[in-house]
Amino acid sequence: MKERIIQYLACPDCSSDLELISHSQVEPHGHILSGDLICRECNNSFPIINGVPFFKKELIDTEVDKNRNNFADEWNYFTANMDIKNEALAKGELDSYFNPFVNYSDLENKIVLDGGCGGGRLIYIVSKHSKAKEIFGIDLSNAVFTAFKHTKDKDNVTIIQADIYKPPFKKNTFDFIYSVGVLHHLPNPKGGFSSLVRFLKPDGDILSWVYGKEGNFLYIKFADPIRQFITSRLPFKINLYLSWLITLVVWLIIFILYVPANFILKEKTASKILPFNKYFMFFRERGFADFWRTIFDKMVPTISYYISEGEFKDWFTTNNLNYKTFFRNGHSWLGIGKKEPMPIHHSKKQNNKVISL
Ligand SMILES: C[S@@+](CC[C@H](N)C(=O)[O-])C[C@H]1O[C@@H](n2cnc3c(N)ncnc32)[C@H](O)[C@@H]1O
Repeated sequence: MKERIIQYLACPDCSSDLELISHSQVEPHGHILSGDLICRECNNSFPIINGVPFFKKELIDTEVDKNRNNFADEWNYFTANMDIKNEALAKGELDSYFNPFVNYSDLENKIVLDGGCGGGRLIYIVSKHSKAKEIFGIDLSNAVFTAFKHTKDKDNVTIIQADIYKPPFKKNTFDFIYSVGVLHHLPNPKGGFSSLVRFLKPDGDILSWVYGKEGNFLYIKFADPIRQFITSRLPFKINLYLSWLITLVVWLIIFILYVPANFILKEKTASKILPFNKYFMFFRERGFADFWRTIFDKMVPTISYYISEGEFKDWFTTNNLNYKTFFRNGHSWLGIGKKEPMPIHHSKKQNNKVISL
C-alpha cells in the first residue's frame, strides 16, 4: 500500500481514522511493505504484510475459513501468472460483465472498489483499461498476495485483505463498486451487498454478478450437494486432478454434442433442448484451461448460494437503488444499481435557524 491511500481508510470497527506507525521498507514502486495501521479510538492494530494491509487475519468460523483457504489455493494456482493468455481471458470475462452497463471510459478519475478481488485478474484489467483515480481490491483470502504481485506496478491500485462485511473504508468513498462471483460465497449474500452499498457515494454505481437459481435446477439438485459434502472438503491437489478429469469429460461432450447441435439447429433451438447450452458454448470459445479453472471454482467453495431473480432484485430495492438486471448466459444474474444523488437542500433562514426542505 502507498501512504497516500490512508485518507480513504477507516477502522472497520469504529470508523475512526487510521494512523500509520513503525513502517519500514518502501519498495521501488512506492509501496510500504511492512508496518502497522492503528486506530487510536479503539486501539486496534492492523499489520501491513508484504505490501498488503491485513484487516481480518484472525479465524472467523470453520466454514468461512475453509472457504477462504480453498479460494486462496485456487487463485494462487490459477492466476499465478498474468501472461498474455490469462490477461485476454480476464479482459474478455470482465467485458462480458461490464458491457451491458459500464464502459472503462466511465471510470476516468473515479474511485473504484473490487469487492472480492481474488488473485487480482479483474482489477489488473480495470487498471490497464480505465483511467480510474484509485482502484481498491479487497479479499478475505491470502490470494491478496497474488493480486499484489500482479498490480504493484500499477500506481492507482491498492490491495487490501479485508472482509466485505466490514471493509476498512470511510463511508461514501466509492464512485463505482463491482463484485463479480463473490457475494454468493458469503454466509449472507444480501448482507454482503448491503455492506458494500454503505461505501458507495451518492450517485455512485454498484455492479454485481451472482449465480442464478434460474437455469441451474439440475446443477443445484445433483451436482451442488457433491460440492457441499465432498469436494469442498478434499485436499487441493485431489480437487485439481479431479476437476481436470471432469473438465475433460464435459469438454468431449461439448465437442461431440453441443457444437454440432448449435451448428445444425442454431443456438436458440439448441438452448431449448440442451441444458447449459449457452454456458458451455461460452466456455468453448474461452478454451479448456479457463473451463478447468471454472469447474475447480465450482467444486471448492464451502459456501455457494444460488440467487433467484426476486432475491437479487430485492438486494437493490432494499438498498434504495435504481437498478437494472440482466440474465447472463442463461444461468446467472448481473445487476447494476445507482445510489440516489445527494438531495439538494434548499435552505431557508427562519428565526435565525437553517431549515432544510
Ligand atoms: C470466485 S472468487 C472471485 C474472485 C474475483 N472476483 C475474480 O472473478 O477473479 C470469490 C472470492 O471472494 C472472496 N471472498 C469470499 N468471502 C469474502 C468476504 N467475506 N470478504 C471478502 N472476500 C471474500 C474469496 O476469497 C474469493 O477470492
